[in-house]
Amino acid sequence: AQDVYHEMYRPQIHFSPKEKWVNDPNGMVYYKGVYHLFFQYYPDSTVWGPMHWGHATSTDLIHWKQQPIALYPDSLGYIFSGSAVVDKSNTSGLGQNGHAPLIAIFTSHDPIGEKAHRNNYQNQSIAYSNDDGKTWKKYNHNPVLKNPGITDFRDPKVMWYEPGKKWIMTLATKDRVTFYSSPDLLNWKKESEFGEHIGAHGGVWECPDLFALDDNGKTVWILIVNINPGAPNLGSGAQYFVGSFDGNKFTTSNNNTKWLDYGPDDYAGITWSNTGSRKIFLGWMSNWLYANVVPTVRWRNAMTIPRELKLRHVGKDILVVSEPVKELNIIQQHPITVSNIVVDKNLDLHQKTGAVKFPCRLNLSMDTVEDFSVVLSNDMGEQLMIGYNKSDTQFFIDRTKSGKRSFQKDFAARDVAPRFIKNNGMNLSLIIDVSSVELFADDGLTVMTEIFFPSKSYDKITLHAKEKLIIKKLSYANLQSIWK
Ligand code: FRU
Repeated sequence: AQDVYHEMYRPQIHFSPKEKWVNDPNGMVYYKGVYHLFFQYYPDSTVWGPMHWGHATSTDLIHWKQQPIALYPDSLGYIFSGSAVVDKSNTSGLGQNGHAPLIAIFTSHDPIGEKAHRNNYQNQSIAYSNDDGKTWKKYNHNPVLKNPGITDFRDPKVMWYEPGKKWIMTLATKDRVTFYSSPDLLNWKKESEFGEHIGAHGGVWECPDLFALDDNGKTVWILIVNINPGAPNLGSGAQYFVGSFDGNKFTTSNNNTKWLDYGPDDYAGITWSNTGSRKIFLGWMSNWLYANVVPTVRWRNAMTIPRELKLRHVGKDILVVSEPVKELNIIQQHPITVSNIVVDKNLDLHQKTGAVKFPCRLNLSMDTVEDFSVVLSNDMGEQLMIGYNKSDTQFFIDRTKSGKRSFQKDFAARDVAPRFIKNNGMNLSLIIDVSSVELFADDGLTVMTEIFFPSKSYDKITLHAKEKLIIKKLSYANLQSIWK
């Protein structure tokens, strides 16, 4: 039965469903030692269709067990994206015997209303679970928040706002975000709007997330707003704003658009609820430009590696840094560290580390940075190049020769991302799966995620430098498949 996880292109260290279509991560909540991951799921096909909430659970954020489908479409429509919370003091009254229920808040998307060009076909509904997330019942009086006439009115992300003792819903409303509040998750009142005149607007705003992060004892509020299209390397992407939130309104002083991930393949990401001061983010590892046509057979698409978000000051800016969760170490095998490697134009990595196998993790640090690239390749001349260009101060991932790419015209691109600091030294961490790479540079200040589809698996990693490059420290480790 585990064979399904070992077909060509199947991610070995990332969650993907056994079969059929997946998009956004939904309803992520940590409860009683279990990380719940729900996801936009269409169990009847490998292309997008009537949305359900699939379900998977993990105790370590790395190994996932797929569970029965949690939510099926109903008379109000498809089950679109949303979030889940622990209603600790049973404000909703939906807990049994005074128990704390789990509450899922999602968009009911009525396809008939959409076809008829009505403008109110997306409404917010809830479901509750009294058995720790195993089974879910829809609330009898859905929807709980009716659409006032905005065509794109979706993806509720709910959190408890302790200072005001109320729930806050952050909702994507076309070209802005609208905040609602509620004492009980059942009755919602509009508080304010944000974003009509700020940030990227190359497409519709979707899947927002509002949360606090610690900045040396001060609270800073982060608002993530996914957008499609309009991302820096085309298609869908995740921008964020740094600011403050007073229970009614979000404000930001910063005007330049920031992106959580500059690569093309990290979309609709939001964070887990109920994880205390730790903020863990997960994205969908694809892009609406080609998500429906990537060349996989039994299933389509996967999630990124979960990432921990923190703040870092850079000049006058506060930026969000992402790093792979430390739990990734659990699957690290036979780590090898080598110091002071000289790359004189080319170096085949196996000379330093022994046989190179995918998936793997590769960390590099250097005291003086020069132009360089890390190239994944096979013996058919297909390659994926990941690197840094000093004169542009840009990282890049080039998949123009990466293998299969004719399924969509924008896929074969050279994607770039800015470097934010001017240090001489640099560190880089690559999480490489059989059909994806995630680049974390400068301790997660610049992040890029890309998928690829070589005709034959890559089996080689080479390092390239224009001149001479000295790698102060290189560490390499195999990553053990999570599907064993
Ligand atoms: C984002 C999105 C959401 C929507 C869901 C539908 O990828 O378009 O806005 O709720 O996907 O599957």
